[in-house]
Amino acid sequence: MKKIRPSRRAARASVSITVLADQPGAKINRAMWGLFFEDINFGADGGLYAELVKNRSFAFENPLMGWAKISPSLAQGTLSVLQEQPFDAANPRYVRLQSEGTAFFGIANEGFRGMGLRKGETYDFSVRIRGVSGAPVVHAQLYGADGALLASTSLRDFSSKWEERAVSLRPAETDPKGRLQIVLEGKGTVDLDRVSLFPRRTWKNRPGGLHADMVKILADMKPGFLRFPGGCIVEGSVLERRYQWKNTIGPVEKRKPLVNRWNYEFIHRPAPDYFQSFGLGFFEYFQLCEDIDAEPMPIINCGMACQFNSGELCPMEDLHIYIQDALDLIEFANGPVGSGWGAKRAAMGHAKPFKMKLLGIGNEQWGPQYIERYSRFAKVLKEKHPEIQLISAAGPLPEDERFKFIWAKLRELGNADIVDEHCYANPVWFFANNHRYDKYDRNGPKVFMGEYAAQSVAMVSVKNRNNLECALSEAAYLTGLERNADVVRMASYAPLFGHAEAWQWTPNLIWVDNLRIYGTPNYYVQQLFSRNRGDVVLPLQLAGIRKSSSGIENLYASAVRDDRTGEIILKVVNPGSSQISATINVPGASRIGSGAETVLTGSSLQDVNSFEEPKRVAPKTRALKTFRSGSIHDFPRFSMTVIRFKAR
Ligand code: AHR
Repeated sequence: MKKIRPSRRAARASVSITVLADQPGAKINRAMWGLFFEDINFGADGGLYAELVKNRSFAFENPLMGWAKISPSLAQGTLSVLQEQPFDAANPRYVRLQSEGTAFFGIANEGFRGMGLRKGETYDFSVRIRGVSGAPVVHAQLYGADGALLASTSLRDFSSKWEERAVSLRPAETDPKGRLQIVLEGKGTVDLDRVSLFPRRTWKNRPGGLHADMVKILADMKPGFLRFPGGCIVEGSVLERRYQWKNTIGPVEKRKPLVNRWNYEFIHRPAPDYFQSFGLGFFEYFQLCEDIDAEPMPIINCGMACQFNSGELCPMEDLHIYIQDALDLIEFANGPVGSGWGAKRAAMGHAKPFKMKLLGIGNEQWGPQYIERYSRFAKVLKEKHPEIQLISAAGPLPEDERFKFIWAKLRELGNADIVDEHCYANPVWFFANNHRYDKYDRNGPKVFMGEYAAQSVAMVSVKNRNNLECALSEAAYLTGLERNADVVRMASYAPLFGHAEAWQWTPNLIWVDNLRIYGTPNYYVQQLFSRNRGDVVLPLQLAGIRKSSSGIENLYASAVRDDRTGEIILKVVNPGSSQISATINVPGASRIGSGAETVLTGSSLQDVNSFEEPKRVAPKTRALKTFRSGSIHDFPRFSMTVIRFKAR
């Protein structure tokens, strides 16, 4: 090993970081840093799923939720909700508009806290329509929040049989709070169902597809995996309301909406208009994974409803139904076109398998009831699909009795692959637990840190903020995960999206409103880890580290090697209020070349990003031309730094 002679400047550095480049450690999972997606905070409907019409099939519990009657004073007409001879027996409700023709008469949809409309962009309107009497003209119109007409088009000559009509609209102005209006001109009656409005610009411009900007910000993270569809939404408050993937595939109009459990979960954040349309269903999730090159990680219900709600249990003698769902899901994702479920996938336009390798059994379950159910799943799945890695639950907290019980039992069972740990705690917990995995038993199941986020105030406090302190505490914690990549195989922040006017839970990684989107400081931490993943852990020694009474260290670091580029990647977090100068030694590297440094920092630990200042806390990169072993590097206060340099 090459000896490094400390220079006089080095003697002035308070800390030294030594990367043992010639002693590579564990291989890092390609899918180490990923995404947790759940339809919470209007993440799917009103979010990632680009549909702008809320309750498009009149299938919510209140069939007219989201809709309002348009009936100016001179108008005479009736609006009724009917089911006879529906367009689709699976979603039988539709609306009948009967107008006397004295004035425009119809309905308007408010969208998801308004409809975000952009001047110059095209919006595709479609409707299932049936003429009942007369020959009215139907106008489809977009209005701004101030009542200005932004776009209008008309439909006429309706058949007495249901038919689909589609037209496009181009708003004259941008408006984050637009609405869609459908009005009849002239005397007559029509039936309407499946009223839809999509931006033409979706992700990959797929008709009826996903929100282009929301997918792009995910793709920009280069995530290793995507966990879906949650979260507690998998479990349901009662089993009848659990997420059932089979109800989310096939023709979109056949997918029966279900109330979203975040509709009523928090009485302090009610969302009575929150339902799941399943327009974003399991096929679309798999397709999204493929698009952004992320491993699909579906989570299925294990026969237990949410234990924070009813905790309803599926009787053991009926558990085979749930296990069959899991087997069928594997066939849907990976089976040949000739198999029953593989054929359904092919019919949806994807003959090639999705190559799913991971499957979560339950979300955040605990107790002997979980172990009993997990064992049954594992027995069947391990026998029939040994190629699938199973992810098991470990309760909601990272160190309580429930957690310890589950871990002990899973170790005993011997057939658990990966255990899903969850942690929502204050920033101090994340700083102080940097060494949590240093002592983990290497022989048992691996760890998936499946949900975590630092809470600036307290768990489920509405005052929680995505501030720099939380982001740095997570960054510090992740250096510990990275150093222990032999035992921690994957990690994902939760939740992913929050709609600024429709959230139930905060903090969230990415915030959106109807037209805008921004990544939080926490998002940039995730991005820095994911985009600088590396292939092999390099051992690292730190000298000069001081610890506060609450367990916060003055500097955190980890190092990896990127085999493709031949670079060493060093990640350093300085959470303190003073700059730290550190000597960086790289014994064992014979030739060190130029590099680059990316710094994420702010002026205060309370700094946050916002729609107005989306990049207040965002990474900045500069070249490091003179980087060499033994040089002193300055790490700014309140910062995370990633240094990449060539080394042999
Ligand atoms: O991320 C929000 C919720 O927190 C998830 O749905 C659940 O798994 C956890 O309790």
